[in-house]
Amino acid sequence: FNVDTLTGKTVVITAGPTREAIDPVRYLSNHSSGKMGYALAEAAAEAGARTILISGPCQLAPPERVEHIKVISADDMLAACLGYAAGSDLFIGAAAVADFRPANIAEQKLKKSDADTMTLTLVKNPDIIASVAALDAAPFTVAFAAESERVLEYARDKLVRKKVDCVIANDISAAGIGFNSDDNAVTLIDRRGETRFDQRSKPQLARELIALLAERL
Ligand code: C5P
Repeated sequence: FNVDTLTGKTVVITAGPTREAIDPVRYLSNHSSGKMGYALAEAAAEAGARTILISGPCQLAPPERVEHIKVISADDMLAACLGYAAGSDLFIGAAAVADFRPANIAEQKLKKSDADTMTLTLVKNPDIIASVAALDAAPFTVAFAAESERVLEYARDKLVRKKVDCVIANDISAAGIGFNSDDNAVTLIDRRGETRFDQRSKPQLARELIALLAERL
């Protein structure tokens, strides 16, 4: 692992979940721990990059020498990403962005009614990584694809649909890896082909992924 492979480069990484407010006390979110994104940020900083970690709410301490930008919702994350990604060299989307948000955020706490059901109308969130990849001076853009079936097929589709440079696919149905785990196993897919990384710790995997991505810049 070369400590100088990203010296002079700027790397922007998203991590963690987003939180989509329903009212002042409630939100929609997911179980993303942020571990993969934080490990990638640590590895990028170790490799010498100026590293910006744009993170949704999670329990992890930011790595040393990393600029830590805290956001809550997908809209906040998009604004931060567009600001930092323009002019950067490498963008990695490891965040588990909520696909939808409530159409309206109630100003006051919603009251329980007598009805047995309640309906929440959701609207689609912006696709952050596709927006970054569409920038005029877009960085080399890397998406994650967490899938529970037809992992490689869906990941290859994401490469084309989101117009990103690379997709890192992981199978979230396998025990002990992926979402919220300490380990991960992934396949890196780009237009040159596919590289498999069998199960290993997220910090170890992050160093190997950063080393490989540095060669692509
Ligand atoms: O489409 P899907 O959510 O499976 O794609 C996952 C990839 O896209 C991840 O890199 C994730 O960070 C990114 N993403 C995004 N904005 C969204 C949804 C996903 O940047 N609204």
